[in-house]
Amino acid sequence: MDKLVIQGGAPLSGETRISGAKNAALPLMCAALLTREPLALSNVPHLRDVTTMLRLLGQMGVKVSRDDRSGATLHAERLAEPLAPYELVKTMRASILVLGPLVARCGEARVSLPGGCAIGLRPVDLHIKGLQALGAEIEVEQGYIAARAKRLTGARIVMDLVTVTGTENLMMAACLAQGTTVLENAAREPEVVDLARCLSAMGARISGAGADVITIEGVASLHGATHHIMPDRIETGTFLAAAAATRGRVSLHGADPAILDAVLEKLREAGAELESTKDTISLAMKGRPRGVNVRTAPYPAFPTDMQAQLMALDAVASGAATVTETIFENRFMHALEMQRLGADIEISGNTAVVRGVEKLQGATVMATDLRASASLVIAALVADGETTVDRIYHLDRGYERIEEKLAQLGARIRRVN
Ligand code: EPZ
Repeated sequence: MDKLVIQGGAPLSGETRISGAKNAALPLMCAALLTREPLALSNVPHLRDVTTMLRLLGQMGVKVSRDDRSGATLHAERLAEPLAPYELVKTMRASILVLGPLVARCGEARVSLPGGCAIGLRPVDLHIKGLQALGAEIEVEQGYIAARAKRLTGARIVMDLVTVTGTENLMMAACLAQGTTVLENAAREPEVVDLARCLSAMGARISGAGADVITIEGVASLHGATHHIMPDRIETGTFLAAAAATRGRVSLHGADPAILDAVLEKLREAGAELESTKDTISLAMKGRPRGVNVRTAPYPAFPTDMQAQLMALDAVASGAATVTETIFENRFMHALEMQRLGADIEISGNTAVVRGVEKLQGATVMATDLRASASLVIAALVADGETTVDRIYHLDRGYERIEEKLAQLGARIRRVN
């Protein structure tokens, strides 16, 4: 199993380019199921989750072609079987995003329940409840969601809590429903907006994406389109946090500062100097960072997918800080691994108290999930001596060529298997 070996202590410096967003690419690929014509996507990141999604769609009959850069064309002219098997779904929860499009397009779908996850229970009850409100008959049998509907019918759906993929699933399904759907308490994440932009280019009638009420007027069919995927704001935030923790100076190209307010605000509070243009963010951290309090919440508040990385920054900052996780009930696994590097972190319920230490020491640590692994890489870049980060397959799910990009910024890092 691949590991990363990192020699800490070098401040990151230089420039690198940000890839397309994983959490936009996954729902966008599922949108191809909604039309018989080709959907051409550009800025598609090379990630394990993207490969898994292409396999999932391919086994349903979607013709997939990738060019030698970051383009992919998906053509769902005919679908063999509207089935998402357990073998694939268990490796990637986002597979649930085929459910809405399949019911809307084929009138039926069989999708394996995603099962448990390292960061929390993560049920999909709101996806199911929303589709039932659109008129689908749904049964859960032998670990599969079996859904049927001659044609979905528009409805007003008030979601009990903000769910990103739940909003995306229902928005896609509602595009081909009879009549108008109103999603209330919808997710406002930029990835939802990017999906709505692509669906509109395919002929969908959507208004309000980015706000907490989204209205979708159903149409009889959608056509093909081309769409350039938005930059990955979590990859951007991860590199900025790494630069701040190592007291470095970096520029990230192909980024979008407009969708990172909460993260940039916290980095400024920590003492970073930030400059940005339309598509480049530069950060310089001259002295020791200051500890910053963080509380995660749905967009536009501070993203849960940046919580672990900020904890790594706080672990070497001056002073103490609190990190409160309000979205997932088990997203502090990285804290226990950081303690192995000498971090001073105390957890009580959904809050961690982080007392910054002068120095971390290299050791062997184990990644438990995607963002936890990114935080351990940041801690290792700061630590004295050598750190081995084990189980980095988690990292490959969401970061494109991370060790190459970090090496470009002067990190002493190598992959070993
Ligand atoms: C998306 O997951 C992202 N994944 C996650 O990123 C991200 O952490 C999360 O949104 C929150 O921002 C993708 O976009 C592919 P939710 P999602 O539904 O949609 C509860 C990463 O690191 N809930 O918004 O699955 C749920 O348990 C990943 O890239 C229900 O109770 O998250 C959680 O507590 C990790 N019932 C909360 O809502 C439901 O039916 C928010 O989850 C759905 C969700």
